[in-house]
Amino acid sequence: MKALVLSGGAGTRLRPFTHNSPKQLVPVAGKPVLLHALEAIAAAGITDVGIIVGDSGKAIAEAVGNASYLGISVEYIVQSEPRGLAHCVLIARDFLDADDFVMYLGDNIFVGGIGSAAAEFRRTRPAAHLVVTKVANPSQYGIAELDGAGRVTRLQEKPAHPNSDLAVTGAYFFTPEIHEAVRSIEPSGRGELEITDAVQFLIERRRTVTAQLFTGHWADTGTLGDLLECNRVLLEAIAPATHGLVDHRSQISGPVIVEAGAVVRRSTITGPAIIGAGSVIEDSRVGPFTSIGRGCQLRAADVEYSILLDDASVFDVSALAGSIIGKGGQVRRAHKDAAAHRLLIGDDSHVEVSA
Ligand code: DAU
Repeated sequence: MKALVLSGGAGTRLRPFTHNSPKQLVPVAGKPVLLHALEAIAAAGITDVGIIVGDSGKAIAEAVGNASYLGISVEYIVQSEPRGLAHCVLIARDFLDADDFVMYLGDNIFVGGIGSAAAEFRRTRPAAHLVVTKVANPSQYGIAELDGAGRVTRLQEKPAHPNSDLAVTGAYFFTPEIHEAVRSIEPSGRGELEITDAVQFLIERRRTVTAQLFTGHWADTGTLGDLLECNRVLLEAIAPATHGLVDHRSQISGPVIVEAGAVVRRSTITGPAIIGAGSVIEDSRVGPFTSIGRGCQLRAADVEYSILLDDASVFDVSALAGSIIGKGGQVRRAHKDAAAHRLLIGDDSHVEVSA
């Protein structure tokens, strides 16, 4: 079985982080969402991976690097514009050849992986096997209706009046029967070739389409709130390790990773938390549920339930929570005589001040 990972698209909902970097590269629990995806694919025993990329293909290739460290080989397939998930299958025809494959959306994270779904698909080999999960807001997803035997009877993309609360997640297992389906469908109202329509095509031709309930934490990291929550869940599973320097006046409790070259002085780190390589934390309190990127600087800072991207800094600021600070972003206390907040904020940023 091969894997087709979708890492093109626009990522408008994650601005400003996606202005100069694709959404699949936003870090969660210390690494880009896309690398979590590739790890899940490798853990499911799949070694042959095609990655669909758009304009940001270069940045994606740099982040993935030589994927042999994961025991997989990757090939990049360029999509000139985001014309839909089924369009990705269409343009990957040569790479996919006559093999079964999992189509994996590169902005999805399945905590605990997709191993059990892959095993079920390998065992039963239906035309399509979907991974579904219960959601509170079904109008925002592809929605599956099932019969009592776990067979999918109908699929609808983001229906206004959903008949089910089972969302189709971003792992779809296919036999080569999907190729005729993606060739046969027409673009939807939003102008995209929808994979939902391609699977519905199979259902209407009485091919077997099954679904399996994913009960672990699943995130379509489409919003900043999703990212923070996914970061929290993934951090809960980290194995603590100290490769950097922690001085004797600092306290570390709970699962904490201090990466190589990081320095922690006179600070309290409450896990789960990750302090990225080369970061310097002084006179600060960090965590819980906090990922500090590489090369960050924190001085007299108090940060919890947050993600700092690489090279961000926080100086003399207390009670920072539920925040994501972009690459190189700076947050600092104003001069004591300052009468107002002074902000230099990039396009599409969000700031909430408490006073
Ligand atoms: O996350 C689950 C949902 O994903 C499903 O419930 C929906 O049925 C499915 O259509 C999809 O909906 P989204 O609106 O979340 O899809 P999005 O546009 O965010 O694209 C998903 C991934 O595929 C993302 O990593 C970008 C990539 N992509 C998307 C399109 C449209 C491509 O590589 N090329 C494309 O043309």
